[in-house]
Amino acid sequence: MERFKDKNILVTGSTSGIGQACAERFAKEGANIILNGRHFADDEKQLIKTIEAYGNKVKFVQGDVSKGMDSVGILQQAIDAFGSLDILVNNAGVERNANFWEVTEEDYDLVMHTNLKGVFFGTQTFVKYCRKENRPGVVINMSSVHEEIIFPHFSAYCASKGGLKMLMRNLATELAPLNIRINNVAPGAIATPINQKMMADKDKMKGLLENIPMKRMGTPEEVAGLVAFLASDDASYVTGSTYFIDGGLTYHYEEQ
Ligand SMILES: NC(=O)c1ccc[n+]([C@@H]2O[C@H](COP(=O)([O-])OP(=O)(O)OC[C@H]3O[C@@H](n4cnc5c(N)ncnc54)[C@H](O)[C@@H]3O)[C@@H](O)[C@H]2O)c1
Repeated sequence: MERFKDKNILVTGSTSGIGQACAERFAKEGANIILNGRHFADDEKQLIKTIEAYGNKVKFVQGDVSKGMDSVGILQQAIDAFGSLDILVNNAGVERNANFWEVTEEDYDLVMHTNLKGVFFGTQTFVKYCRKENRPGVVINMSSVHEEIIFPHFSAYCASKGGLKMLMRNLATELAPLNIRINNVAPGAIATPINQKMMADKDKMKGLLENIPMKRMGTPEEVAGLVAFLASDDASYVTGSTYFIDGGLTYHYEEQ
């Protein structure tokens, strides 16, 4: 299946986890890929080789999405990389664990600027480009089940993903006349580096799995499959929605 043949796709934060899986999935389906990360190291060289092996073009754009002007620059470089840009996946994200009363301004800014401000100005740059060139576009935001359900001790993270929900809904209406679709993907617990600490803690894992009807974590590849659907023409009438991918976690209720 080559749903993305000749499409150029930027995935932010694509050097690990879900972002990397999305980049590989799009490449498998024929796309040229613009990777993004804050640093370029050996792992990124390997990823470039993997994507090239699918026979597609790939470029790495270094930049930190938490800095408003960097996210504008990342988008501009992504547009220039292969002469056009069709799909933007706002995937880069961070979380910080602290009691609400102990959250520092530094950590608040890091989380909000990475998860929300970067998406805001990166998407704005993409939309300006689509308008100027009179091109359609697709935007997918990597949100979280925590755009909807609580996550005690992760208050800035919840605020950022909750903000991302309303940003997406607002933009769906504002951008539909421009032929730009925008949706959120809301993963539950996915086995990626962001969860490394929890995955190493047997008790925490037991508590987590008890809350998931499917009794397992998801894989980055499963999330990438949903992202690919939303990015493709198979989802041509889908905009303004959040798609949960959580093994049943969000609307879970059982009586003992
Ligand atoms: N893994 C999960 O359980 C889970 C659940 C819900 C939502 N998510 C979301 O999925 C997204 C991807 O997370 P992941 O689980 O793959 O974790 P991850 O830590 O493997 O990936 C995050 C990626 O974002 C990059 N990144 C972080 N800050 C950046 C910045 N300022 N500029 C550029 N890149 C930056 C990291 O280098 C990394 O490649 C995040 O938005 C996260 O909130 C993950």
